[in-house]
Parts: sequence; structure tokens; C-alpha cells
Amino acid sequence: MQEKFYLTTAIDYVNGAPHIGHAYEKILADVIVRHKRQLLDNVFFLTGTDEHGIKIQKTAAAKGITPKELCDENFSKFNNAWHELEINYDKIIRTTDVQHTKIVQQIFKKLLENGDIYKHKYTGLYCSGCESFLNPKDLTQDGLCPDHLKKPEEITEENYFFKLSKYKNKLIDYIKSHPDFIKPAYRVNEILNQLENIEDISVSRTKESVQWGIGVPDDDTQTIYVWIDALSNYITAIGYDIENPSEQFKNLWPANVQVIGKDIIKFHSIYWTAILMSLGLPLPKTIYAHGWITIDQSKMSKSLGNVISPHDVLESFNLTKPDAFRYYMASAALNGKDGNYSDEDFKEKVNADLANNVGNLLNRTLNMLVKYFDGEIKEEFITDKNSKIALLAEETKDKIIEKFNICEAAEAANIIISFADSVNKYVTDTAPWTLAKEEKMTECGQVLYNVLEAMRFIAIMIYPYCPNIAADILTQLNEEINFKYSKLIWGGLRQGKITEKEKIKPVFLRLDSEFASDKKKG
Ligand code: MSP
Repeated sequence: MQEKFYLTTAIDYVNGAPHIGHAYEKILADVIVRHKRQLLDNVFFLTGTDEHGIKIQKTAAAKGITPKELCDENFSKFNNAWHELEINYDKIIRTTDVQHTKIVQQIFKKLLENGDIYKHKYTGLYCSGCESFLNPKDLTQDGLCPDHLKKPEEITEENYFFKLSKYKNKLIDYIKSHPDFIKPAYRVNEILNQLENIEDISVSRTKESVQWGIGVPDDDTQTIYVWIDALSNYITAIGYDIENPSEQFKNLWPANVQVIGKDIIKFHSIYWTAILMSLGLPLPKTIYAHGWITIDQSKMSKSLGNVISPHDVLESFNLTKPDAFRYYMASAALNGKDGNYSDEDFKEKVNADLANNVGNLLNRTLNMLVKYFDGEIKEEFITDKNSKIALLAEETKDKIIEKFNICEAAEAANIIISFADSVNKYVTDTAPWTLAKEEKMTECGQVLYNVLEAMRFIAIMIYPYCPNIAADILTQLNEEINFKYSKLIWGGLRQGKITEKEKIKPVFLRLDSEFASDKKKG
């Protein structure tokens, strides 16, 4: 059977506009998916918005609009941001979609029928920021939610409960016997510890306290808990139906990678996993938890007034394409650690890597090709796959595939840049300008060929991060725009005239040059 790749992201709450933390996750996911598309034909990328729950209900009430109006308004902001950032999803699900709503009720019914849901009166501390009951031992000394620094509300209600404790041992065994299930691996112990004290969870709220949600089937006094609703999106979006699952669902499920933030790993690796077990469905192959993006080393928050939208960044640097920001974000953190955004660092990093390292290398080399050979690659310049640079290119490609297999887009980016460094060093060491002066023209042409062929590799390898720059590089090389990895065979750059003086253009302009301003607006 044809190999498939199904990737999902977390679905964002639409109680506000997207910020660069949300953007980080979607860019990371998009970069991984674009890479996979370079290798496979059967790839599916799902993202979406989480539109129910008390948080949305309260925000809408405070603004004097209906929750659906709030959702529609903010959904557009998210979706526009993803278009601006060229997030090439296959589907964006909204949890207010009718089909999703219907299947969530079906799922709830099935869990009831399985005997995994029961009614129970309960008193607990609810944080609407987390949309979750909190364990009193996890609060700060002042009794606040550690993530939202707000006092949770004490709630006493009769709700439906899911028998999470029934799945405890099965979950522990599964996690221990599947080392790829939770990534990065250092998160596994955190989950195993949480599982030790796991209790059954409330999976509904009374209609009196939460109206904005999906109703519990056959009980008009209760609303389904927003996390049960939200987590189900990963299967409802691709046509899950207990009686009659779609062909798409059969093709795509289980997901290969579910990309989420470190703050919601418990919901995914414990709650979601237990629900899937109850439904008798296979578990996702990997849940990948990324870290958080801070701004100038501080947590982004409305109260600190440091929330930045991705649009602000592009606008303030006069960027009409998202490549530089995508590249910066996708390289912001290694191994699921937190990353940081600062204007200064953004500018420095993209100038160093994209303008100086990659951009100048192409520019200088094309100019030499014009100067010495009238822009023509001659037959005798074409080197074989055993040349030093060819071997390095091949090795680089293999390493990148390996890194993407473990979702390490930042490490893969470093590998591409270090390859470009080596090619730059090769130019300095071989000094083609000296070879030309000494009239060693074939040798000089071979060096230029090596560099331009390496640039073709770089274009294809950097494509997931910088799709427009990658296309511009291939255009400058007079190559067809095809980013499939099957094109990464040394010797692909053909003989003939590929350029002339007037055609050579920089593929990335330095930020802060006369074309870009670093002044932040607003
Ligand atoms: N709606 C839930 C997820 C449900 S998934 C079935 C939610 N929404 S959220 O809007 O709060 O967050 C959406 C995603 O963005 C999460 O994966 C979260 O970790 C991520 N991020 C939110 N702020 C972030 C940063 N500052 N940095 C990086 N990612 C962050 O949780």
C-alpha cells in the first residue's frame, strides 16, 4: 500500500486573534508536512479552531455579541493569518461545523454504551483559561492556576464522568512499550507521573453553567466537555463515523504526528488516548510536544502588553512574503524546548543565514559564471557524484530526512545552513577567481558547477521553510520548479546557458537594508 502521512495540529481557541505562539506551531507543522510532500504523495494536513466552551461564551458576552459571531470573526483572523504565512493545510476544521457536532454526540453515546461514562456529583476548581478542573496541589501558593495566574472557580455540579482510571495501566504499558509515542522522549516521565495519580474526569457541564457547546445526547440538561469535543476533531475532520467511517478515515487514521504545545500534552497523551482506546481505534503514532515562544525572554501575555501577531512582524519589516519569518520560527527551538522571538535576533538570524550565507553564495557564483563563461555551464564542468561537495550534499539530504522523521525541523534547518557554510568555505578554499586568472578554466568551471549544483540542493532542502526563496533560487538557476526529493540526484543541473548579467537578482534582501525597515508599527 502507498505510504501515507497524516499530521494534525492543536486547534486554537478563537476567543482572541492569533499571535506568534499559535503561528509557531502552525509553521512547524507546515514545514514538516511540506517536507513529507517532497517524499510522498499521500499526505494530509489538518488544522482548525476550537470554538466551544465557557471561555468563548464569556468573551462573547463581555463583547455583547453571540458566541457564534465571536467565532466567525476570530476564525477569519486565524484563517487569514494562515494564508499570509502560507500554511498549506488540506483542511481547517471548526468545532462548530455541523458534521463535527453530530459525530461528537455519536462518540459520547458510544462511550456511554461501553460503560465508560457515568453520572457523579462533584466539587472542583475550574480554570476557564485551561478549560479544565485543576488539582489543588498544582495551584500556586496563592491558589492560582499556574498557567493563567487566575483564581479557579469552585464548582459543584452533577456531571457525566469518564472512567479514565480504568485505562490507567493500559496507558502506562502502551507508553512504555512505544518509545515513539510521546516525543521528545524527555516528556515521557512527566506523563507517567501524572498517570500514577490519575482520576476519572468530568466530561460534561450543566447547561446552566455552559450553554455554548455540544449537547449531551438524550439529556438536555448537560453540555459535552469542550476537551472531548475538541480532541475528537482529529477523527471527525476526516470522516470518522462509528457505523460507516469514510474511505478517507480508513486511509489516514491513525495520525502519524499530532503536533501540540507542551501545555496540552496531558489532554493528548492521556485523555485522548483513553478515548481512542474506548472507541477501539488505533492510537496516533507520535504526539510531538513543542515548547513555547517567549517574547524578549518573557511569557507573552495581554497583561504584559507584549502579544505580537505574525502580521505585525511581516508588516514591520516590510516583508511581502512569509519566508524569513517561517524560517526563523521553524528554527527557533531545538528538541521541543522553548524558543524566543526578538526583532533584533530575527533580523540577525535571517540576514546571516538567508541573505549572507545562502543568498550571497548564489549571487557571487552566478556572477562568476557570467564573467568567466558568459553564464554557460559547459559539458566538462559537470562533476560526478563522488566529488567532495556531491558526497556532502548526499549526506546532508539523508540527515535532513532523519531529522524530519523525528519532527526536528530546527535541527534540519541547522544542517542545511551548515552545508551552505561548507560550500562557502569550499569557494574560499578553491578560489575560482584565482583559477580563472591562472587560466585553469575547466577547473574553475567545475568549482562553479559544484557550487551551483549545491545551490540547487539547498533550494529543494530549504523549500519547506522558504517556499518563495526556494522557487527564486531554482528560477535563477534556470531550473524547473519541482521540489520533490527525487530531484536530489547529483548532476541535475544541466549544461547550457543558464543566466546573464541582467537576470541575476538577490533572492533575499537583507532586513534593515534600504528595502526594509525595522521600525515596529503600532
Ligand atoms: N484549544 C486548545 C487545544 C485543543 S487541541 C484538541 C488550546 N488552544 S490554544 O489556542 O490555547 O493553543 C493552541 C496551540 O497553540 C497549543 O498547542 C498551544 O500550546 C499553542 N500555543 C499557545 N501559545 C503558545 C506560545 N506562546 N508558544 C508556542 N505555542 C503556544 O490549547
